[in-house]
Amino acid sequence: MSAAKELRSRSWFARQDKNGFYYRSWLKNRGLPQDQFDGRPVIGICNTWSELTPCNTHFKTIADHVRWGVLEAGGFPLEFPVMSLGETMLRPTAMLYRNLVSMEVEESIRANPLDGVVLLMGCDKTTPALLMGAASVDVPAIGISAGPMLRGLYQGKYIGSGTNTISMSEQLRSGAITLTQYHDAEAGMHRSHGTCMTMGTASTMACLVEALGMSLPGNAAIPAVDARRNLLARESGRRIVDLVKQDVVMSQIVTRLSLENAVRVNAGIGGSTNAVIHLIALARRLGLSLSLEDWDSLGQTVPCLLNIMPSGQYLMEDFFEAGGLPAVVRELGDNNLLHKHAMTVNGQSIWENNREAPCWNRDVIHSFAAPFKRDGGIVVLKGNLAPDGAVLKPSAASPALMQHTGRAVVFETIEDLRARINDDALDIDETCIMVLKNCGPKGYPGMAEVGNLPLPPKLLKRGITDMVRISDARMSGTAYGTVVLHCAPEAAVGGPLAFVQNGDLITLDVQQRKLSLLVSSAELERRRAAFLPCAPAATRGYVKLYVDHVLQANEGADLDFLAGGSGSSVPRDNF
Ligand code: FES
Repeated sequence: MSAAKELRSRSWFARQDKNGFYYRSWLKNRGLPQDQFDGRPVIGICNTWSELTPCNTHFKTIADHVRWGVLEAGGFPLEFPVMSLGETMLRPTAMLYRNLVSMEVEESIRANPLDGVVLLMGCDKTTPALLMGAASVDVPAIGISAGPMLRGLYQGKYIGSGTNTISMSEQLRSGAITLTQYHDAEAGMHRSHGTCMTMGTASTMACLVEALGMSLPGNAAIPAVDARRNLLARESGRRIVDLVKQDVVMSQIVTRLSLENAVRVNAGIGGSTNAVIHLIALARRLGLSLSLEDWDSLGQTVPCLLNIMPSGQYLMEDFFEAGGLPAVVRELGDNNLLHKHAMTVNGQSIWENNREAPCWNRDVIHSFAAPFKRDGGIVVLKGNLAPDGAVLKPSAASPALMQHTGRAVVFETIEDLRARINDDALDIDETCIMVLKNCGPKGYPGMAEVGNLPLPPKLLKRGITDMVRISDARMSGTAYGTVVLHCAPEAAVGGPLAFVQNGDLITLDVQQRKLSLLVSSAELERRRAAFLPCAPAATRGYVKLYVDHVLQANEGADLDFLAGGSGSSVPRDNF
């Protein structure tokens, strides 16, 4: 670790001139005495609290615990808000705003007298947005996740966010449950604040924060309402002061080695496909290389260890009680699949933190010797339908469909899908492959989580529960099925997905990592020549900026000008 250097905040508070007066005096209106400006580390508490983000509504309390920890360690805490991204409310998709929030975080840190930050992140996109923003400034940082909600409970059975929302919605569409039952389940599903309690994107990203070494051990799985999350917040507040004093910046924690650890952890937990995009984007902010191919090759040897929805039956509360992420990391380390000396924010290596982690329930956290599912990692598919790659999560897919050739049933847009999917006259059976176009980063825009297309009711009524589905969209980490996602290049920019027509044959071969449109090259070229791009999704504002600059999914869907970082140097005077 590097030696201490002068704190950024001294450029504001150490000045004995007009500017120093401005900087100190306006803060003294909060009752801060002169000794607060004596050179102690100034810690920003970056808060994504919002009533519009129900998963993060306890962050005022968590921020208070961080504040106490910072004060106890001799730091100077200053809390600041950033735009919150509530997955359930934001339209057209929270992902449209991940990059915007990352810019807001970066500039909020850079432009203010902050020496280090504690990142409060929970609902899906808040985690990558805050990590990416902080990475681009590269100051000392610690992450605290919201923690999962309590188990969902309905009619005496546990139910899981997203996963059972999807299955119960299909049951409603097929007539298997009533609308009253559906409404009753809504009230039982989300019984506390906190993030979705399945291994969705929020839980996945919380696990990866811990695997990267960016949080204190145990952060990922402690339930939002468990007292131990408050303790972790307080300890994180204390620890960030030490990190600033030791000048341990984020790029010393998030390295190629810790990224590889995170990719393998994602395989071991049966994590969300969204993590692929977020980790690639984070790596690019730090100038590190992480490719789709890395995801496939690193994850291939890691089985899925967790029996948690959507891959299994349990929920995050069960995961916590069984030992949480430390037990998974120990399994990786015991099987030589961990870079053991990767450093973490508590000053110890990831192996020092986890090598003696216990597992209390092997039905929830399986061992390598007897894994929950053999295929844990993300599969990366290539072929003439996705020259730059597409992804599939085998632990959530049907083994019988892993090698399948079928007739394409094409939906040009999400509106086209919604208009026709419930029509019993739709020419489709369970051997067909459903194709959805124009839902990628530019096409939607924002790359919505619509890739797990709902099945036609006439097939649901016959008991069909899965079909091969292909799109340039993402899907919720809580979703399941044999779903090929993130086809790149996307249809809206003239990727081959745009040229698929009803009746074309498509082959999915997971073993061979192939996704092939069985149409001749000459015919594909003929269709390409006739391709007409859609009208621009926006002519002004942030959405125009996004559409003009967003990269494809295989490059992390970041804005092209955000690769790398501005660094932590202090901007020019404002007076
Ligand atoms: Fe916020 Fe799932 S909706 S974590």
